[in-house]
Amino acid sequence: MYLDNAATSYPKPEKVYEAVIHAMRDVGASPGRGGYRRSLEAGRILFQAREAAASFFSISDSARIIFTLNATGALNLALQGTLVAGDHVVTTSMEHNSLLRPLYALRNKGVELSIVPAGPDGVVSVEDIRRAVRVNTRMIAVSHVSNVCGAIQPIRQLAELCREAGALFLVDAAQSAGYLPIDVERFAIDLLAVPGHKGLLGPGGTGLLYVAPHVPLKPVIQGGTGSHSTAEEQPLVMPDSFEAGTHNLPGIAGLQAGIEFLRERGLSSVFQHEHKLLNQADRALRDIPGVTIYGPEDSSARCSVLSFTASGVDSALLAAELDHGFDIAVRAGLHCAPLAHRTLGTLPGGTVRVSPGWSTTSEEIAFFSDAVVQCIGKIRTSA
Ligand code: ALA
Repeated sequence: MYLDNAATSYPKPEKVYEAVIHAMRDVGASPGRGGYRRSLEAGRILFQAREAAASFFSISDSARIIFTLNATGALNLALQGTLVAGDHVVTTSMEHNSLLRPLYALRNKGVELSIVPAGPDGVVSVEDIRRAVRVNTRMIAVSHVSNVCGAIQPIRQLAELCREAGALFLVDAAQSAGYLPIDVERFAIDLLAVPGHKGLLGPGGTGLLYVAPHVPLKPVIQGGTGSHSTAEEQPLVMPDSFEAGTHNLPGIAGLQAGIEFLRERGLSSVFQHEHKLLNQADRALRDIPGVTIYGPEDSSARCSVLSFTASGVDSALLAAELDHGFDIAVRAGLHCAPLAHRTLGTLPGGTVRVSPGWSTTSEEIAFFSDAVVQCIGKIRTSA
């Protein structure tokens, strides 16, 4: 049983597999690299996927969407493509290394960084962030939903703060895209980093970055774009300039199919299904003596993941027991977000994290909860 959809979603809807195979087997060619029909068809797939993603996030111009390998690629581009020495960035203690590590690397090149601690429930305070803003604050960068404890951050208020401060607003939607509605223009998001392979149900190796029209983004990778071939400098044409090299067309075709699946089923019905399962797991786990659940008390302030520990039980061992004894896949440890664990008080062992998906059933969550009870009992007995 797969309960690690926060790492990558599985299974994908059938139409995602079909779209990948169609792009590989029936189309085969590279988009924008030839005038023959197969290449034109590849170009159509790429365009349609961009349009589908734009419509999903209420983006009026799909050319503002850059396809990337994953959310990490999108975040690196957003940060390296906008920040220069002397700029100041405010971020939070709930961030994933995909945001923190590029920021640390930029700090070594003269970018100033403030990391605002979240509360013990993982939620950041808008006022604390406001206090960290300086005259040279160029960007506020936050994850919409914590990949460790599922805390939903107040991005609407943070967007307002960015407007007041004249700072760019970068949102890491790694754990919210495909779960919560995101309207980039209404929410005033300047840069939105999205994985294609998590909540959007696309294949691995897909992601995207939305860049608002007023954001002066510089390319960080140079190469062929299929256009302006005599120019020595990377041409500044959206989105080609930022997609140098051959696209992951099968992946992008699958991503479009994932987005269409969500549209057909309805984002809110998929979200409600997953949220109900998280709440079921929450209730069952809370009944187990010695179990602590992290993140906001109020389940409506939490999304996509549930993290817990059991006293006297190593989280990695518990996950291994669930895997080997019950064939249940959950993630354990630090989830690539060390400062979030410091905030939640779960260093050094981290947590066990469960993240159901669109096809997970209530029976599976009941089986998982029983298995947790048995594994904890076994580990405590053998200790
Ligand atoms: N960022 C992914 C996770 O949280 C890989 O598991």
